[in-house]
Amino acid sequence: MTETLDIQVTKTSNSKLPGIDFDNLAFGRTFSDHMFIADYKNGEWTDLRITPYQNLSISPANATLHYAQSIFEGLKAHKNEHGEIMIFRPEANAQRLRKSAERMCMPPVPEELFMEAIESLVLLDKDWIPNKPGTSLYIRPFQFADDPFIGVRPSETYKFMVLTGPVSGYYSEPVKVKIEKHFTRASKGGVGSAKTAGNYAASLYPARQAQAQGYHQLVWTDGKNHEFIEESGTMNIMFVINDTLITPPTSDSILPGITRESALILARDWGLNVEERPVRVDEVIEAIENGSLTEAFGIGTAATVSHIAVIGYEGTDYKLPAVENRTISNRILDSLTRIKLGQEEDRFGWIRKIG
Ligand code: COI
Repeated sequence: MTETLDIQVTKTSNSKLPGIDFDNLAFGRTFSDHMFIADYKNGEWTDLRITPYQNLSISPANATLHYAQSIFEGLKAHKNEHGEIMIFRPEANAQRLRKSAERMCMPPVPEELFMEAIESLVLLDKDWIPNKPGTSLYIRPFQFADDPFIGVRPSETYKFMVLTGPVSGYYSEPVKVKIEKHFTRASKGGVGSAKTAGNYAASLYPARQAQAQGYHQLVWTDGKNHEFIEESGTMNIMFVINDTLITPPTSDSILPGITRESALILARDWGLNVEERPVRVDEVIEAIENGSLTEAFGIGTAATVSHIAVIGYEGTDYKLPAVENRTISNRILDSLTRIKLGQEEDRFGWIRKIG
C-alpha cells in the first residue's frame, strides 16, 4: 500500500466489550463496537468512516430492500501466540467481492479500500478478537444498492460496509443433510457463483422443508436434472472416495469458495489424489453403499470443515463413517486452523499480519 486512505474515526464512548461472555459465543449474534461505511456516489467512493456500531437510516424505497442488489464476503481474524493480528486471505475476498459486484452490476470496491477498511476496523476493535480454540473474529464486508428508487435498474448509489464480531463454530456437531431433487439453489447462467443475498434467501424455503424432516441442511444438485452434486447448505462440498479428494468444479452455479481453494492447494501439496470434476449423485450413493466413500464434508469460511454424518437420499438415510477416522478432512481442518493461528508455517502467503 503506497498511501493511506482518509478514514474519519468516531469512537464509541460506551464499549459493549465488558458485557461479552467469550465462553459462550454463537455465530453472528454479537457485533464489535465499531463499523466501517463508505458511500458511492457520482462515480466514486467517498466519506470513508468508522463509527460506533449502530442502526442505519434507509429510505423505504431503498433498492436493495426491493430488488436485492446486494453482495457480501466473510473472512476471519485471529491472534497468534505473540498477540499479532492475522487475517486469512483478505486479498482473495477483495477479489471475489469485485467479481460478485460485476455480476450484480455494481461498482467494484478497490482492493486498497477493502483492505484499509478491514485493517482499520479490526485494529480499532482488536480486543474483540477471541482466543479460545474454535473461536475467531468474523469479518463481514458487504455492499448494497442505496438509491431511493423502485424502478428496476442498477442503483447509482451504494454503500460498502464492514462489521466484525467474535464467533465460535457455525455448526456444533456433524450434520445430517438431504440430497435435494426438486428445489435448486442456482442454475446455469444464473448468479450462483456470486456471493449475493438472493442466493441465500432462495435457499431458506427448501432448507426449512428439509429441517422439518429432521435434516440440518441440503445438498444442492444441478438445476437441470438434479443429477450432479453442487454445494451443501451455505458451503462447498467435498468427498473422499477411494482415497481421492473429490469436489465439483466451480462454475456459474457454484461459489468459488476461498476455504475450498485453500483445501485443494493443501491436499495437492501433500501429494493426495485430488479431482475437481462433476460428481454424480448416483456415484456418491453407490460409493456409500460399497464402502469406498469414507468422508463427506461442507467447506466454507464460517465452519471451515463441517463433517457430514448422514446423507438422506430418496427416503433412505445413509450413515457415513465415524468422524474420528476421517483422516483427510481432519487434516485439512487441523492444518487450516494451525495456519490461521500462526502455529504452522504460512507456505502459501495466506496470512496478512496487521498492526
Ligand atoms: C461461509 O461459510 O463461507 C458462508 O458464507 C456462511 C455464511 C453465509 C454464514
